[in-house]
Amino acid sequence: MSTNNGFTPGLEGVVAAETELSHVDGLKGELIIAGFPLARLAANATFEETTYLLWHGRLPTQAELDAFKQELAALRPLPPATLNLLHEAAKANTAPMDALRMASATLDLGSSAADHQTTAKTVVARVATIVASYHRLRQGQDPVTPDPNLGHAANYLYMLTGEIPSEARVRGLETYLNTVIDHGLNASTFAARVIVATQSDLVSAIAGAIGALKGPLHGGAPGPALDTVFEIGRADRAEAVLQAKLDAGERLMGFGHRVYKVRDPRAEVLGAAAEKMFRADGDMALYELAKSVEETAVRLLARHKPGRNLQTNVEFYTALLLHGLGLETDIFTPTFAVGRTAGWLAHCFEQIQYGRLIRPQSRYTGIMDRAWVPLAER
Ligand code: COA
Repeated sequence: MSTNNGFTPGLEGVVAAETELSHVDGLKGELIIAGFPLARLAANATFEETTYLLWHGRLPTQAELDAFKQELAALRPLPPATLNLLHEAAKANTAPMDALRMASATLDLGSSAADHQTTAKTVVARVATIVASYHRLRQGQDPVTPDPNLGHAANYLYMLTGEIPSEARVRGLETYLNTVIDHGLNASTFAARVIVATQSDLVSAIAGAIGALKGPLHGGAPGPALDTVFEIGRADRAEAVLQAKLDAGERLMGFGHRVYKVRDPRAEVLGAAAEKMFRADGDMALYELAKSVEETAVRLLARHKPGRNLQTNVEFYTALLLHGLGLETDIFTPTFAVGRTAGWLAHCFEQIQYGRLIRPQSRYTGIMDRAWVPLAER
């Protein structure tokens, strides 16, 4: 952390909140979600279980989980005004994250929710419906009515494709959503906490968080990581293509991380999930190609930047997994939001409990004591 008389650019290294939700250790390559090492939780839990865990601090019993799933499922349908907005956005060819940001402001429309829990459930349920419905509309298709008999992940895939997904695909998506559900005080989570700390409402916090996630420095660019794999096309071309990029001063997409200085634990979990899913229900050749691109990239990066330990990050296997699920690149970031929404809300609950306004200071670097010049003399 570099500080300059109390000023820490980008707040890097500043501890601005205490949380029981997730712990990120960039040197050990460790991510703990509410007490569980990521690998132990992500591959076993359903998205609803992980959401319940973050909101209540413990895993649900069977009866609690059943009730929670039912409540979420009942809240999935969108009010007509939200659907109208999505129709208009599609006509204007609005980008999916912009459409999500616009529609997110209508999340509590028609809901007489008096308590935070009901609002939060509505938000989690409807963000998925917004993303899937908008994707359909952009393809010139009608939105698919949510199926209350399916879990959150299965229903999301169903609303995107109109087909009941295989178990392997559902498990792949559950693992992805669990993996991205929370990650310390990242930019969008901080934005949500700042908003809710003013005693504003949860929907405002989520709309703000979506706005923050949209930026390329945060929502990430899993698309380009996948583009590189497609550009390489065959394992025996990996070294030449990647070396040419490094020689041209380009960065290899999907490698390196600001916080993790060892392999990103999310890459580990998503890599394993991708392998399982591709093996059961996908294009194993693409998975094998991606593996060999990864091995080559890590080897070349070690030679290119010795001692930097540039390793695979979350984006590389996110891209592979979401592509394997049949998702198009332009809904990778909105799908990230489908998972992270539950984490944002958990942070909002913590912040509301803590109850203190977030109000840092700025240091004035402008002119002091300016002389007033009347308009006619300027
Ligand atoms: N390919 C090639 N070189 C890389 C690299 C990559 N993916 N990641 C870092 N480097 C190089 C940098 O150019 C830098 O070299 P220099 O010291 O000679 O300038 C050195 O390694 C250290 O990198 P630095 O820029 O300090 O890392 P950072 O912590 O600021 O950046 C990222 C982290 C993620 C921005 C960076 O690794 C990156 O651009 N990765 C590719 C994009 C990506 O995958 N983004 C998704 C992140 S989840």
